[in-house]
Amino acid sequence: MLFQSLTASTLSANALLARENLLWIDGVELRADFLSAVPTDALARFPQLLQPGKNDRGVPVILTIRRRRDGGNFEGDEGKRLRLLRDAVGAGNFSFVDLEEDLSASGSDEEVRRAAYKSGTRVIRSFHSFDGTGGDLGERLVRLSALPGEIPRISVVPHSTRELLQLVRASLRARGQRIVVGMGDYGFPSRILSPVLGNTLSFCSQNSAERVEAGVDPRTMQELYRYSTLNQSTAIYAVIGNPIMHSRSPAYHNPRFAAAGMNAVYVPIRVDSVSSFFDLAGELDIPGVSVTIPHKESVIPFLKEIDESVTAVGACNTIVRDEEGYRGTNTDVDGFLTPLANRASKRWAGGLAGRAATVIGAGGASRAVIYALIREGVNVCVLNRTESRARAVTEELSPYARNASLTWGKLGQPEGNCLLSGHSDIIVQTTSVGMFPDTDSDPIPEYRFHGHELVYDIVYNPPVTRFLSRAADCGCEVIQGGEMFEGQALLQSHLFQNAYRLRSS
Ligand code: ATR
Repeated sequence: MLFQSLTASTLSANALLARENLLWIDGVELRADFLSAVPTDALARFPQLLQPGKNDRGVPVILTIRRRRDGGNFEGDEGKRLRLLRDAVGAGNFSFVDLEEDLSASGSDEEVRRAAYKSGTRVIRSFHSFDGTGGDLGERLVRLSALPGEIPRISVVPHSTRELLQLVRASLRARGQRIVVGMGDYGFPSRILSPVLGNTLSFCSQNSAERVEAGVDPRTMQELYRYSTLNQSTAIYAVIGNPIMHSRSPAYHNPRFAAAGMNAVYVPIRVDSVSSFFDLAGELDIPGVSVTIPHKESVIPFLKEIDESVTAVGACNTIVRDEEGYRGTNTDVDGFLTPLANRASKRWAGGLAGRAATVIGAGGASRAVIYALIREGVNVCVLNRTESRARAVTEELSPYARNASLTWGKLGQPEGNCLLSGHSDIIVQTTSVGMFPDTDSDPIPEYRFHGHELVYDIVYNPPVTRFLSRAADCGCEVIQGGEMFEGQALLQSHLFQNAYRLRSS
């Protein structure tokens, strides 16, 4: 079940927020600690505002008044809070009431519990920590389940991938009803994967006032992550990086999984330790992973097998599991090549082989491009601002230049320009020059395009860089970076689908 957390300052604003999302949610959590005023009668009637005309409990509502020390906004005295809870629950409209762990130990919630029992309201017994996971979560869950009929709830802010792993383990090993959710970036996957981890419910929010946000709104939860369809057999795929929340990959892969009829979900996982991630991957039985900055190199020692693209480029952007274990590949290579080879086959009888290309840049991104070109028999000249880096990259990749030449030069120098004009069938731009927000810059402002060059910029934000628009203005055929992104992601999607079939067979 998916519950929307409501943190607006008035009951009517909360009701409006909930009504806008009724299509995507199963219930709401009213965070009464965010209300600017709390009249008990109005509070008690809140669930009726959600579906006027329906019976009292049309939409299940959790009543929560969270104290400051637990990350909430309630600052009044404890006696007042408990009276509010007792009276609101006593009216019988709430389906659940959230009571913290320490209240049962002290017995101070006895009257609230009695009111809940009489009105058929279930108690959610909760533990909160904003400072990591706060010890052994498995034991904590057992302690929270001590009172019969109560649903244990753990809400913590994991500060590392290892802490996310602890959260996942506690949830997977628990029995019975439970709510185990992580907040913040590290906790994000646990919210989406809640049904896969055997949880009773999860939370989402919109315009949240919470200290650490849920980070996902109800519509995205259902339309992108297909929350309601997830279950304990769902295959979990991931994109890993640090930071990761900006990644476009979930928006790319989830709809394709849906179209392919796969019971699978693709989530962003923030990873600060690759070794912790592989422990998590084992725990979650992950069949496929997209890898992004800064882990493209550091994942390699953890893989059972890597293909030549990974060895040559020194970076792995895709991991899939087969019978042997995790295998690494680099779909940037073929993702880059596909749109280029399509154009080349229309222009030149022999396609790419034997053509001459300039690659601008000698950083990490250039390596996949250079390797792809020389593998196809293209003679390549690498130009870079720092000449020593251009030399180093060509020396490292020269063993793969079996049917091609590989030279280098300094960007912007006369001899560099000379090399450029001798290698101008294809010009590929791989530096960050021209990328948002540096959109006015051009890596080779002095170069005058003739119109015959096939020009490719791997930068995809903006879609058309200054370099590319200058080339197009001179009559050149151009390829945008978005095509490379699409190309590598499509190849990944095919690999992920194969791994899914293997998992299901
Ligand atoms: P990436 O992995 O994205 O390629 P990188 O390894 O840091 O990132 O490489 C950045 C590339 O952009 C390098 O080729 C860099 O040139 P230097 O090796 O001389 O640093 C190039 N680059 C970045 N800013 C540049 C600029 N203002 N002018 C020219 N080249 C630039």
